[in-house]
Amino acid sequence: MNAFSQRFRRIEPWVGFAEVQKQLQRQGVFLVSVDEKGRPNAMTIGWALLGTAWYQPLLLVLVRPSRYTHTCILHSREFTVNVPFGKMEKELGFCGEKSGREVDKFQELRLRWEKGREVSVPILTDCDLIYECRLVSRVDLVPDHILQEEVRARYYPRGDLHSLFFGEIKAVWRARQ
Ligand SMILES: Cc1cc2nc3c(=O)[nH]c(=O)nc-3n(C[C@H](O)[C@H](O)[C@H](O)COP(=O)(O)O)c2cc1C
Repeated sequence: MNAFSQRFRRIEPWVGFAEVQKQLQRQGVFLVSVDEKGRPNAMTIGWALLGTAWYQPLLLVLVRPSRYTHTCILHSREFTVNVPFGKMEKELGFCGEKSGREVDKFQELRLRWEKGREVSVPILTDCDLIYECRLVSRVDLVPDHILQEEVRARYYPRGDLHSLFFGEIKAVWRARQ
């Protein structure tokens, strides 16, 4: 057994999302992508959806155009979602506040990582559940299509409407206890 399979086992896409949901509601999870210079970048996300479309298992993440991650995902066409269970609070706080445009968050936080097994974007070795995704589609929200006025007022007072990135799930890894 190599070091990776000692640490992780492969699971079905649908297993484990209840725990992801819990962590999304706590301090969030890491969305990782790579910029055009090949530098990895991590940002914290609090929203994600899991489901099926185009007969593919999908993970949907919502990223505002102002985030550096937006540029990175469009470049790398891949992303990973890395879920720590009730730990890495400091790192999640930092990645939810600082932009990869100004700071190399991987270096600053000394994040331990390795290349994904199915995608070339890194996965965070200290996380408990990891999704490797390949971009299928991008849908940009437009104001006219937000049908609840309270959602528009609360989340988009200054525009910057999210892009919805649909990622085909290529692999899901669960840390062995
Ligand atoms: C708990 C938490 C959840 C967040 N969720 C999202 C999200 O789902 N989508 C988004 O665009 N930004 C979200 N953010 C904001 C980004 O993480 C933040 O702007 C980050 O600095 C962007 O980094 P980047 O510019 O390197 O991409 C969240 C921040 C926190 C603290």
